[in-house]
Amino acid sequence: MAFIEVIGGRHLQGEIPIQGSKNAVLPILAASILHNGITRIKNCPKIIDVYHMIKLLESIGCIVTWEQNGLTIDATEINYNSVDKKYVSSMRSSIILLGSLLGRNRSVTISYPGGCAIGARPIDLHLKAIKEMNVEVIHNEDIIFCSTSHLTGAKIVLSMPSVGATENVILAAVKADGITIIDNAAMEPEITELCLFLNKMGARISGAGSKTIMIEGVEKFRDIEYTLVSDRIVMGTYLAAVAGTGGCVTLRGNCCNENGAVIDTLRTMGCRIGVGKDYINICSNQLPKAVPLIETETYPGFPTDMQSQIMSVLTIAEGTSLIIENIFESRYKIVNELAKMGADICVSDKAARVKGVNALTGANVTACELRGGAGLVIAGLIANGTSRISGIEYIERGYENISKDLANLGADIRRVED
Ligand code: UD1
Repeated sequence: MAFIEVIGGRHLQGEIPIQGSKNAVLPILAASILHNGITRIKNCPKIIDVYHMIKLLESIGCIVTWEQNGLTIDATEINYNSVDKKYVSSMRSSIILLGSLLGRNRSVTISYPGGCAIGARPIDLHLKAIKEMNVEVIHNEDIIFCSTSHLTGAKIVLSMPSVGATENVILAAVKADGITIIDNAAMEPEITELCLFLNKMGARISGAGSKTIMIEGVEKFRDIEYTLVSDRIVMGTYLAAVAGTGGCVTLRGNCCNENGAVIDTLRTMGCRIGVGKDYINICSNQLPKAVPLIETETYPGFPTDMQSQIMSVLTIAEGTSLIIENIFESRYKIVNELAKMGADICVSDKAARVKGVNALTGANVTACELRGGAGLVIAGLIANGTSRISGIEYIERGYENISKDLANLGADIRRVED
């Protein structure tokens, strides 16, 4: 198995571009099947989750082709509305096909995605909302079968602003008869991106990015070409890396305004940060300072997807920090691995107390999930000596080439085929 080897202790400097957004492209790929024609996506990241989603699209009849980072999806013929269990279990967010297959075919059979490394991740909100659109939902532990003779717009109030449930409702509602209103919708930038994409394709959606989204169903869509936004979490990960190693770096991407909570936290840690329209510049020439409290929240609060990376930096901060993880119950798997490198972290339920130590020491550690894996790479950059990070198939679900990006900024890091 491949692993990442990193020799810590180098400052980072230079400039790199940021890849396209994983969490934006997955629902957009699902949305492409709503149109029986051609969709072109530019700036598409070449990551494992995208490859999984392509397999899913191909399994129901789409023809998908790459040209560098451009992806063309021909969804003229969809032959199946049943999504194979082997694909659903390999990527939890394949549940996003529920809404778009309902929109396209009026029925869908999909296996239950089950739990995942960062928590149980139920889909009760998805199913409850879909039922309100005149859809019959039959499910057992394994299979969900949804069908409707007349997909109908509805007023849907989400008890929690779930990103995936909001996306699934939008994907069905754009092809429903009448108007759908989602109250307490997720406000994450990826929802806005999905709605921009769908509106360009011919949908009528307003309010994306706010708590109330209104969708008027339409009959038909048109062929489009869409350029994907940069990945705010990848950008945040590299900002955190600089906060840990010191240095001065410019990151180029058009998601800079979506990282407010992360930037505020890094400034509290002592980093100097300048934000432009399509770049962020970060400089750090001192040990990071501890942060009294970081609580993960829905957007625009501090993102759960940045919690592990910031935790890695806080392990060497001056003082003690407190993190509260409010979104996913199993998102502290990185803690045992960081302890192998000398970190002093105490977890109790949702809270993690991180006491800064003088230095981390390189070690062999294992990624158990995507963002925790990125956190371990950052810890490796900070640590004295050599670290080997295995389990990089998790990291590659979301990062196109984390080793190359960081090496381009001067890190001593490489991906090694064992
Ligand atoms: C998406 C992102 C993920 C991010 C998360 C929160 C993608 C592919 N993934 O995941 O990277 O960390 O948003 O920003 O975009 N919940 C329920 N019932 C449901 C649905 C969700 O109880 O039916 C709970 C979840 O268990 C979790 C919380 O709601 O505790 C938030 O989940 P949700 O917003 O749905 O996250 P995802 O869409 O799975």
